[in-house]
Order: sequence, then C-alpha cells, then structure tokens
Amino acid sequence: MLKFPANFLWGSAASAPQTEGHSLGNGKSATTWDKWFELNPEKFHANEGPENTSNVYEEYINDIKRMKEIGLNSYRTSISWARLLPDGKKINQEAVMFYRDYFQTMLDEGIHPIVNLFHFDMPWWLMEKGGWETRESVEAFHFYAKTAFELFGDLVSDWVTFNEPLVHIECGYLYGYHYPAIVDFKKAIQVGFHTLMAHVYAVKAFRDSQNDGRIGIILNVTPTYAKSDETQDQEAKRKADLLIIKSFLDPCVLGTIPVELSDLLLENDLTPDSLPDDKEVISHYLVDFIGINYYQPMRVQAPREIRYPAIFPTDFYESYDWPDKRINPYRGWEIYPEAMYDVAMMMKDDYGNIPWYVSENGMGVANEERFMDDSGMIIDDYRIEFMKEHLDYLHQGIEEGSNCFGYHTWTFVDCWSWLNGYKNRYGFYRVDLENNYQRSLKKSGLWFKEVVKNNGF
Ligand code: NOJ
Repeated sequence: MLKFPANFLWGSAASAPQTEGHSLGNGKSATTWDKWFELNPEKFHANEGPENTSNVYEEYINDIKRMKEIGLNSYRTSISWARLLPDGKKINQEAVMFYRDYFQTMLDEGIHPIVNLFHFDMPWWLMEKGGWETRESVEAFHFYAKTAFELFGDLVSDWVTFNEPLVHIECGYLYGYHYPAIVDFKKAIQVGFHTLMAHVYAVKAFRDSQNDGRIGIILNVTPTYAKSDETQDQEAKRKADLLIIKSFLDPCVLGTIPVELSDLLLENDLTPDSLPDDKEVISHYLVDFIGINYYQPMRVQAPREIRYPAIFPTDFYESYDWPDKRINPYRGWEIYPEAMYDVAMMMKDDYGNIPWYVSENGMGVANEERFMDDSGMIIDDYRIEFMKEHLDYLHQGIEEGSNCFGYHTWTFVDCWSWLNGYKNRYGFYRVDLENNYQRSLKKSGLWFKEVVKNNGF
C-alpha cells in the first residue's frame, strides 16, 4: 500500500469558463471565448460554445455534495474576471454572492478551496485594447486581484494567479489555437512578459492585503527529454528549458529572469518592452507554492533548419515524435508517468524544495459512452490505471523528499474544453448534454473515493 503524507490534498480541478455556463448573463460581460464563438462557431467541436458548459452556476451546491460523497478534501476552480468586474472597475454584486456562496459551501463541507484568477479567459473589453500585449493589462489585473482578495480573502486562503500562462501565450500568439490566433514570436514574448508582470503585481496585492494564506501559480511544465546526447540536441533542450520551464519558474520562485534567457531574446531581437523597476519588483514578490499540471512530456530535438533571428520557437528547438512512446489510444497524447518523479525531483533540486502540488492530471477520452455498462456507468479502468501509475511515480518522489502537498485530478465533472468542446471527457462524473447536464458517477470516482479514504492505494 502506498501511503501519502498526512493532510495530503486529494481533489479535482476545474475553471470558471469551462464549467459555469451562464456565460452571457447574470451581469457577466463577454470574454474572448464568447466573442470568438459568436464570430466563428464552426471552429468549436460540435458547435459547442462557452455557454454550453456543465452549468455549475446552478449546480454547484449539488456538485459540492457529490465531492463530499467521494471524499475530496480540496477543489480548485477560478473566478471569472469578466463576471466579477464586467467593465474592469464596477463590481457585479450577483457575482460576489455567487462566489461567496460557492466557496462557503465548500468550506461547510470540509473542502479546501484553491482559487485561481485567470484561466485563459480574457475579458473582451480588455482584448479590444490589445489584451496582454498592452501594459494596461498589468494594471487591470492588479486591480482585479486586489478586488478578489478583498471580497473573498476571508474565505479563501490558497490563491493562484494564473493557470498555465504558457497556453494563452503559445495558443494565442504562436499556434493559432486561441483568440487572437496570430503567429508572431515577438508579440508572444511581449504577452508573456506582461503576463509575468501581472502575476507579480497580483502577488504584491496579496502581500499588501495582509492575508496570511498562500499564493502560487500553476504551470504546465515538465522536464524536457532530448532526442540524443549529441551537442545540438542538448543545446535545443537547453533553449526549450529556458523558454518553457525557466521563463516562469525562475522569476516566480527565485525572483530572477535567467541571464541566458535575456541573452537569447536579445540576440534574436525579441526583448520585450519593460519598465525600469520591473526586475526589482520581480525579485520581491515570490510565490509560496507551485501547482504543476502534468499530462504528457516534452520531447525535443535540434531544429532541422536554422533561421536566425528566430521567427518561431521551432527555430530554437523542435518537439519530436518519440519512436517507442505509449499513446493514450482514446485521445492521442503520450503517456509517460515517469515524468511525475522527474517533476518532483526538479522541484526539489532546482527550486529549493518549494511546496508544490499536482494541480491537474488526468486522462481525456473521446466517445466515452462506448464504455458504458448496462446500468449506465462508465467503466473507465483505463483512467484508474493512468492515475495509479502517475501516483506511483509521484509517491517515489515524495519518498525521496520532494515537498508535494496534494494531487488534483482533471476533472470532477466532465467539462467543456475550449475548441474541443465535449470531445474528450476527463471527469469522475459523466455529464449528459442531452439531458439537462445530468451527472452520473463513473467507476474511477468510486476508486478515487477509496484512495482518499485510505490516503493511498
Ligand atoms: C489544462 C487546462 O488547464 C484545462 O483548461 C484543460 O481543459 C485541460 N488541461 C485538459 O486539456
């Protein structure tokens, strides 16, 4: 039996835009997702937009009862910036009532809320001014963070500034997956820098608020694995590490931007605009913990064609197809649970053994109804196996001294996933879209209940 540390947080994670629904009502203003869906619904799987999520705005009390039933002792979700501050300044009182009751209900049921401020959901009013490309976004986010700490700081003691900031940078400005879907490496770096400064000013707002809780950031970093020991692949790995891992972890945890990263950007005419005291401010506001979302590893090789100055990250490194990789047959992503151990060691050895937790891990499955038995239960043994393997490697890392305080699955109830809509399901509960978002428990939920009860498996 693998036992986890006392007071280990066993929970699930979700986000406001993927679960709440009521996306264009109840005082909320539009985000880039609402607008993009209005403009290009065909981009979204089965034409399912952000309005069509799992209706948590109405279902949260029942969902929290379900969490209690499974035994979760923590849960992470986010606040919708556009719901709380529809024009960036004026507070929407209905949103305050909703979030206060949401968090209070969790507390009443013994579920520790972890609350995130930004999960890819840029308010449209700010996007129209340039979004994260503008310095104004840093001030706007600072104000939003301050407001959230004032309104909910008595209920929430664990806060997160951003979920996976690399995603809105890469998907919005390099790969064309998220609005504004442009390809511009220089803008991507600028957006990244403003995101970092917005994070730092949110940490400042938290410290200024005298809240005695903790604040952190959630990153989708995994150690990178180079194709070979050859110099060029190792050099590609070094550059990938700088851009993907150290770009956020170093300033957030250590208070510094790596010199090699600044040099790399300078050599390639990618240095972002900044203010004279930015570096100084970064050095003062460090996080208390890190969340790591882990699904699949990052494999890198040297680029085949080198075009400096760089116009695309693949000029520095390329991801490559690992020949013997294990694949999730129902989603296409690589399965490599060993990385859980490597992440644990990275946090221990390179980041001063800072407290951290697995803020997302899970297995997405398309057409999951094919695994439904006669009673209507999804028999998701594949998900149970996936989680067991990941927990096993995580446990090894903890045994070797890594300071991990929890494991959150993605997700509790199947939710809407950006352009993929409901294509891939991840939850312990299935959502029936045809039937008023009705929930039904999957086998993995019963398994997780035992894990939590035993603090291990
Ligand atoms: C990471 C993100 O935080 C979440 O929004 C997304 O739906 C899941 N991974 C699954 O891909």
